[in-house]
Amino acid sequence: MKARIVLLATAAALVAVALSLNVASAGRLGPSATATPAATSAAAYPAPKVPNAAALKKEYGGQSITFIGDSVGGSHNRDVALAKQFTKDTGIKVKVVPHPTASDASYSQLARVFSSKSSSFDVAMLDVLWPGAFAPFLVDLKPKLGKEAKQHTPGLIVNDTVGGKLVAMPWFGDFGILYYRTDLLKKYGYSSPPTTWTQLFAMAKKIQDGEQASNPNFSGFVFQGNSYEGLTCDALEWYKSSGAGSFIDAGKVTINNPKGAAVLDLFASQIGKTTPRDVTTYQEGEAHTAFVEGNAAFMRNWPYAYSIGADPKTSKIVGKFSVTVLPHGSGGQSVGTVGGWQLGVNKYSKHVDASIEFVRYMTSAPVQKFDAITNTNVPTIPAVAKDPAVVKVNPYLKPAIANVARVARPSNILGAHYNEGSKAIYQGINQILNGRSASSVLPGVQAKLQRILR
Ligand code: GLC
Repeated sequence: MKARIVLLATAAALVAVALSLNVASAGRLGPSATATPAATSAAAYPAPKVPNAAALKKEYGGQSITFIGDSVGGSHNRDVALAKQFTKDTGIKVKVVPHPTASDASYSQLARVFSSKSSSFDVAMLDVLWPGAFAPFLVDLKPKLGKEAKQHTPGLIVNDTVGGKLVAMPWFGDFGILYYRTDLLKKYGYSSPPTTWTQLFAMAKKIQDGEQASNPNFSGFVFQGNSYEGLTCDALEWYKSSGAGSFIDAGKVTINNPKGAAVLDLFASQIGKTTPRDVTTYQEGEAHTAFVEGNAAFMRNWPYAYSIGADPKTSKIVGKFSVTVLPHGSGGQSVGTVGGWQLGVNKYSKHVDASIEFVRYMTSAPVQKFDAITNTNVPTIPAVAKDPAVVKVNPYLKPAIANVARVARPSNILGAHYNEGSKAIYQGINQILNGRSASSVLPGVQAKLQRILR
């Protein structure tokens, strides 16, 4: 019964997350928008100072904590810069350990540590899907951070509250968007980005054929095709935007349906044709590397990749790309999968109070502003998302993009079995991308999900 209540609460929460993230948008440009490149260097935008630092130093100075942080794009550098500032101001030492790049691998790593009741880490970043599953191992942050929580998107606080306990604080949000090369669209006679998947592949083919003459490494389209959590996110967008549902709908497994099979076969038909052959091994990092090195016309990714493309130190396409909503199938509408990360404190930590102070700092409005400006991550504090300096460098915050329909992964219904269910989904879809027909793979995935739900 208790588990059921948690699951229902999570279901409501993810819907609320989807709705309230839309509200957190600001600005007035059209669906595709180019913004001023992010100021990425530490000198251009230093890490914010820790408020009330002297009192923290007196209380906790000299303690050491370990933070399991980020590993994608520029995020590890961000974590190190913020931890360094925190240590400088408070005397609390922070060891930053990047987690595995695949979210599902990070989940397994944390699950192992929690089950051994280990204090080997104090603070960890948690995928938006996990608060329900990890709640028994996390400190209730409400007594100390309840007031701060009120600043965040309410749906996320609901998502992060399990059994009345605030087990995590929102750190940054995510949703899938389409990146495209403005210069190449112009060069090949296109006045706007594609609105359907079929158009995307046609444009990708034409641009690829032209560009490969001078750049054999050039591809039309890159996305997250590896057998891991990211592929579940991407494929959910293909499904939902094609009227094929969202894998499990109204309590029933729906993944094996004709529209779903058709969109998977469509994507599979493009492997090695408008995508690199090895896109079936790509995670976020491989996709953004191809795009910012000038080797792809289109990319599906999360907002963080904008900062990498806009930074002359990491990008060959500065000023030559923009973002918009993802394409859709015929008769469907554009959607973006809900993603995002929270920070939680290990209940087996030996330094719970110092850890909570680190979470307070990391999830504060000034740090969210710093992260949004230097790493183009989605703020979870609506006031930060509306800050003109943030809107200026984050074009995905314009309502025409940020108000895209959001689709949530089936973590509510799969509960503690989410990882197992998602694995069945991404392994099956990866096989299809690697050449097996959707009709030969989907019945097996359907049966596995049904077994998990039983
Ligand atoms: C992003 C999202 C996260 C998702 C992951 C999949 O990090 O924020 O929610 O699980 O991508 O690769």
